[in-house]
Order: sequence, then structure tokens, then C-alpha cells
Amino acid sequence: MRTIDWVDGAVELVDQTALPGRFHVIRIDTVDGLVDAIRRLAVRGAPALGVAGALGVALAARDETDPLSAAARLRAARPTAVNLAWGVDEALGHLDGGFEAVLGRALRIRDEDVEACRAMGERGADLVRELTGRDRVRIMTVCNTGGLAAVERGTALGVVRTLHERGQLTEALALETRPLLQGSRLTAWELGRMGAPYRLVADSAGPFLLARGHADAVLIGADRIAADGDTANKIGSYALALGARRAGVPFVVVAPETTVDLATPTGAGIEIEERDPEEVLSVRGARLAPEGAHALNPAFDVTPHDLVTAIVTERRVIRPDRGERP
Ligand code: MRU
Repeated sequence: MRTIDWVDGAVELVDQTALPGRFHVIRIDTVDGLVDAIRRLAVRGAPALGVAGALGVALAARDETDPLSAAARLRAARPTAVNLAWGVDEALGHLDGGFEAVLGRALRIRDEDVEACRAMGERGADLVRELTGRDRVRIMTVCNTGGLAAVERGTALGVVRTLHERGQLTEALALETRPLLQGSRLTAWELGRMGAPYRLVADSAGPFLLARGHADAVLIGADRIAADGDTANKIGSYALALGARRAGVPFVVVAPETTVDLATPTGAGIEIEERDPEEVLSVRGARLAPEGAHALNPAFDVTPHDLVTAIVTERRVIRPDRGERP
């Protein structure tokens, strides 16, 4: 199954707002339709956003009178995951060659993502064994970093998948990931489909469960990794990193090279997406907070590099805890 693809002249993607209740593929043939799908998280996760951005430029090159302004709308749809801007810019670099050239680059980005995720899975699983010294491991993770967040296997959850396939996974502990519940809805769905043993835990239980020895490693994805190794990822990642450091548990970031943003020197320069307060005040449309309540809703946080044990990409392992930088 591919989460996002180009099929018969349009973008097809798994509608992640409908999961786990309904598996539903939507077909999008306009740039503004794709911008809307990105904003409402029908397609989400940094690597998938990179592919979406590039395929969106293909739609723009084919149909828009002003492809540059269409590309700017795509680029601005969500600010934190650098992969979106990267995918747009890569595809735009082929605009002179026309639609076919742009689509060709977009399809290569799709295929490169599949290869990168497979390589991260292998390298990450080897590293987990090395860091923990264990044949079988319990992994804690947050958000959804699986096939749904990429084209096929995913990043951090791709490592969990590889560990499971190797018979090395005792259990995955998935944080539910409020407010939009990517853990409960999407990661649990993926873990169930792969037949991996897992339990969901409330976000606030994560650091305490680490302190009580319930996980051997934390694996997370990334939306942007600054030049100093500071890592932006789903809100709640920083708390897990603090808990992991206190508990002496390895904290590993798994992300493709396209998530490394050398133009951003430190995490302080990463724009954090603020989403609609209503996402905090309600759960899936059911209002929980009293009338008149206000909310603050940062979608991501930044984990400082000194709390990161390792960054695994398709090409290398970087050890920020030993002073290495991307
Ligand atoms: O808001 P989302 O669901 O797009 O957030 C996604 C994440 O934070 C993921 O951890 C990140 O994009 C890495 S996906 C492999």
C-alpha cells in the first residue's frame, strides 16, 4: 500500500482523517485541493508532505496559469516540516522542462522515500540493539511515523516494523498524541495491521513509564532537524526526551536526510505551527471545555540536541550526545 501516489493524472492519498474507522482513498487534481488536504491533515507526516509538495508542483505545472504562485501556496500550507518546502523546491527546479520533467522529479522523490525508509529501518534496528544491548526490546514512540507518514514503511515506526519482522520487538508503547490523536488513531492502526504487540498510553504517562523502566528506547521521527541537531517533532517529544535522559534510556530520532535543514542553525529558528485552538477544546467534534475557554495549540516542539542520543538517516548515524552535528 502506498499512502500517496500519482495515479492516472491525479494525486491519490489515503485520507488520514477517516482512519481508523474508514480506509478511504481520495483523488485530488487541483493545487488548492491538495493545499486543503495538507492543512486538514488528510495527508501528513514530514516525508509524505515532501512527496505531496512535489506532486502538487506537477499539478501546477500542468494546470495553473501561474505555477510559481501555486507552488508558493503549497509551500506555505504547513510551516514546520521542512520536507514540504524541500519537495516543492526540488520539483520547481524542473519547471523549465515542463510538466513531464516536474512529474519525473516528483516520482523520483516518491521512490527515494521508499528506499530511504527501508534503509532507516535496517540501520535503526541495528542501532537499537547496539544501544540497548538487548535481543528483544520495548520501544516508546509518539505521533505517527509509519507508512502513513511516508510513502510506505515510515521512519521511527519503520524501525519498529523492522524490529518486529526480525522477532526483536517485545512491545511498542505508543503515546496517544493529543490533540489530534495520531498515536491512538494511526499508529495503533498500523501496529495492529503489522501484528505487532502494542499498548497505547496517555501522553502524560510517557516520562513516568520511562522512569519505571517500561521501555528500552524511545524512537521518534522529525519534522525538521537544525544544523546543530536540535529536532522539531510532534508536541510531547521534548517531554519524552527529558524523561528518557533522566531514566538513562536512549532517545533516537529517525528521519531522512531531507529533514535535515542546514540553513537553520539552531532549533530556535524553527517555526512552530500553531493550530486551531478548537482542536484542544474539543475531541473529534465533541466540545469538552466550557463555553468561553481559550486554548494554545502548538503542533510541534523542539528537543535540544544534547538530549538526543542518535539521529538515524538512510545514510548515517549521527551522535549529538558525542558532539557530532548533522
Ligand atoms: O502534525 P503531523 O501529524 O503532520 O505531525 C507529524 C509528526 O510530528 C511526525 O513525527 C513527523 O512528521 C515525522 S513523520 C515520519
